[in-house]
Amino acid sequence: MAKLAERTQKIAGSPTQAVTALVDRLRRSGVEVIDFGAGEPDFPTVAGAKAAAHKAIDANFSKYTPNAGAADLKRAILDRYRADYGVEYSEAEVIVTAGGKQALNNTALALFGPGDEVITHAPYWPTIPEQVKLADATPVIAETRADDGFAIRAAGILEKVTPRTRGIVVNSPCNPTGAMISEADFETIAKVAARENIWLVVDLCYEKLIYDPVPHNLPAIVARTCRDVTVLCGSASKTYAMTGWRCGWALGPAPVISACNSMQSNSTSNASSITQKAVVEALNGSQEPVRAMLAEYRERRDRLHEWLTADPRIKCHKPGGAFYMFVDVSQAVEAAGLKTTTAFAEALLEDQKVAVTPGEAFGAPGFLRISYATSMENLREGSRRMLEFVKARAASAAAGVR
Ligand SMILES: Cc1ncc(COP(=O)(O)O)c(C=O)c1O
Repeated sequence: MAKLAERTQKIAGSPTQAVTALVDRLRRSGVEVIDFGAGEPDFPTVAGAKAAAHKAIDANFSKYTPNAGAADLKRAILDRYRADYGVEYSEAEVIVTAGGKQALNNTALALFGPGDEVITHAPYWPTIPEQVKLADATPVIAETRADDGFAIRAAGILEKVTPRTRGIVVNSPCNPTGAMISEADFETIAKVAARENIWLVVDLCYEKLIYDPVPHNLPAIVARTCRDVTVLCGSASKTYAMTGWRCGWALGPAPVISACNSMQSNSTSNASSITQKAVVEALNGSQEPVRAMLAEYRERRDRLHEWLTADPRIKCHKPGGAFYMFVDVSQAVEAAGLKTTTAFAEALLEDQKVAVTPGEAFGAPGFLRISYATSMENLREGSRRMLEFVKARAASAAAGVR
């Protein structure tokens, strides 16, 4: 066979999607699995969006739209950001994409290239460093600390800045930790970005899933500090339970959006026309369903935390946002006589049919990501099985059975 392109050697497939594929395979072969791997809401898409999609189909809204998005959707995004954050962007400063992932990828390709260093924080959503590599740039990782609740700190990020730094990617609330950046830390980074001409990319995919009323108006800080060097990436996926519909967006300086538009026009073109109509309704309609989902996630978070920490070998903070518990199982892994969290996750799936994503996927060995985008019943039963697993494996390791 002829050789594949060089870039394919640098890129790993998504490890979170690998867990989803494994669960799917097991289920199809008849095995009942409790899935804590899901990176998506278990709720149905908000009703208004579904109705708007039906209407769009019936009205034959099935042609290409402008590549950067239909005018009414662009307006709805701009209106939402004005209402939520008090910021003003123009139509030339927004592009609609097939998911937040494409918004981030367009942005990485538009801004980064060979020789550039791009800083992001770990534990990270694996796509962020992979996209940097796809752009032929080098990811530079700033570790956050478990004993600090994985808070994203300016100091940790800024100490990685070198003359080669071309960009900083901040994801808040963060997947997989649920941690956030404080406005003060963000402002410190924003000022450095503006002064040093470093691109700042902000992944706001979980912006509507914040549990406590902590100030998190990052767009307003961008507006007053570093607008010319910043791209905000957002998504309908998690907020409106629309992962399969594929709709995201990027807001930033017109030349960056224009470059994204050129790349997108030669790759995927516009996001699905039907999806766009659905998202107009999701953004313009009542935000009550979003609040209802958040309340349910909060309840699940609190119960899950209580259930898991009943075993002192399992340690975790309650996340401030998103819908993941990032759990320190290093003691449990050791007690079980296992070498890695990946081995732990595999054994958990084998023994107790519970799927979790091992921390290695996020650059954080010793941890597991547990998604609580699943029913309370599953959370209760899955936690029970996890604790049972930890106990049984530790007992047999102590007895020298395995
Ligand atoms: C941190 C983060 N950013 C962006 C995305 C992109 O989501 P989507 O492409 O579905 O909008 C995800 C999805 O899991 C995510 O976890």
